[in-house]
Amino acid sequence: MEINDNTIVKDPSEILRTRTPEVELPLNDEDREHLQQMLEYVRNTHDEQYCTDHQCRASVGIAAPQIGLAKKMLAISIEDGEDLVEFALVNPKIISNSTRLCYLENGESCLSVVPDVEGIVPRYFKVTVRAYNMITDRMEDIRLKGYPSIVMQHEIDHLYGKLYYDHINADDPWQEIPDAVVI
Ligand code: NI
Repeated sequence: MEINDNTIVKDPSEILRTRTPEVELPLNDEDREHLQQMLEYVRNTHDEQYCTDHQCRASVGIAAPQIGLAKKMLAISIEDGEDLVEFALVNPKIISNSTRLCYLENGESCLSVVPDVEGIVPRYFKVTVRAYNMITDRMEDIRLKGYPSIVMQHEIDHLYGKLYYDHINADDPWQEIPDAVVI
């Protein structure tokens, strides 16, 4: 399966609104291959030339429903200076969260939502996620805060049929959230 902007499922679509079932572990070869492709796709989109050549846009994460698979799998690749923060997760679950909220100053976007829907998307500032991580081949409790936490919540939402704009205050999209961390 070639992943590019033409093959990514766009809203509105039933699969983007589906609560996905859990994936059986250990991963079978097909699921492993799909998750690996998802991770490589997101990593590749950091490269401007790649995006030009392969008709895609820059991204930091993707969830299986976006490539047409109703499965609890997601991949994240975030550039942090010279480092990459990457996860290839199966059956991720938020097991704890801060009461404090945060949000991206300019709102979120999604490969499946075109054009962008503008507004503040409230997220937990910190989350702990339990999942099987294919990169380390282990079950892990992953503690995140700030931007990676936002990306993780956005991708996990996809596994429950939710899109970022569901969280935007329809009456006042840019209404600030008291005590939230602005990122
Ligand atoms: Ni998305």
